[in-house]
Amino acid sequence: MSIADFTNTPLADLVSLKGRGAVVTGGAQGLGFAMASRLVEAGASVLIGDLNLELATAAAQSLSERFGNKVSATRLDVADTATVIEAADHAIAKYGALDIWVNNAGVYPNTPLLDTTDEAWDRVMDINLRGVFASSREAARRMISANHGGVIINVVSTAGFRGVAPGVAAYVASKHGVRGLTRQMAIELAPHGIRVLGVAPTFCTTEGNMAALAAMAERNVGGEIPATLESRLGRVGVPDDIGRVVLFCASDMSAFMTGSTLLADAGEVS
Ligand SMILES: NC(=O)c1ccc[n+]([C@@H]2O[C@H](COP(=O)([O-])OP(=O)(O)OC[C@H]3O[C@@H](n4cnc5c(N)ncnc54)[C@H](O)[C@@H]3O)[C@@H](O)[C@H]2O)c1
Repeated sequence: MSIADFTNTPLADLVSLKGRGAVVTGGAQGLGFAMASRLVEAGASVLIGDLNLELATAAAQSLSERFGNKVSATRLDVADTATVIEAADHAIAKYGALDIWVNNAGVYPNTPLLDTTDEAWDRVMDINLRGVFASSREAARRMISANHGGVIINVVSTAGFRGVAPGVAAYVASKHGVRGLTRQMAIELAPHGIRVLGVAPTFCTTEGNMAALAAMAERNVGGEIPATLESRLGRVGVPDDIGRVVLFCASDMSAFMTGSTLLADAGEVS
């Protein structure tokens, strides 16, 4: 399946996601909520799949009220493939199409390498890496059956490009894995018209990482926002800085891109 040539498509149509169905994993708060917001604003119908159903339901309701689109919520644990399958089928039943799948759900426990148990390592991999694989597989199977292509967006991290700081070995390994998986899935899914892109944020303030920093400060193992991140572009990242990049990836603006991971890092890695 070859992609269309959009040379004569007006800009407003290129950015529009009208008529498209999307799933955002971990979309109840933080970066995922910002991504869902921009996708909904661009016209997509969005299913927010999250471990926390109460928060996801409130998030979906607030977006429905704000933009008037179809937005719903479902309980989803990306480490439990049965719930991933349910979410994918739910989106198709509700919206008639599954065009965009955003693998955003992720965890970032902070444990020194020497204290990390096999179980703790596996838990990070089950969510951050196997969850991306299983969710992408289920999304791609359905996109292929519908024969209309699609886009899968994987939320990586600058931790997918280098080591970061003591305590996040499993996280760094999982995000390097997601970046590699993005490249490989792009190769295998391109013949079906499915694009696969990664987005790698630098530090952005979210409910999750502010809680993580507070916990670190309590244990006297850091907990400060690194000063360098504040100075590079003059401020710390906010979730919408990443939401806009995900919208670009999801839309036909990026139609000629697949396999790459876009750094949304305020220059951190360069
Ligand atoms: N915030 C940052 O600075 C930053 C930087 C780089 C990458 N990231 C990545 O962005 C993603 C989101 O980060 P955030 O800071 O917004 O996190 P967050 O903790 O604020 O929000 C994560 C959301 O995912 C949900 N979730 C957790 N485990 C889940 C599971 N197994 N299945 C489904 N949902 C689950 C949570 O309930 C929550 O709503 C993660 O993949 C993270 O690694 C974040």
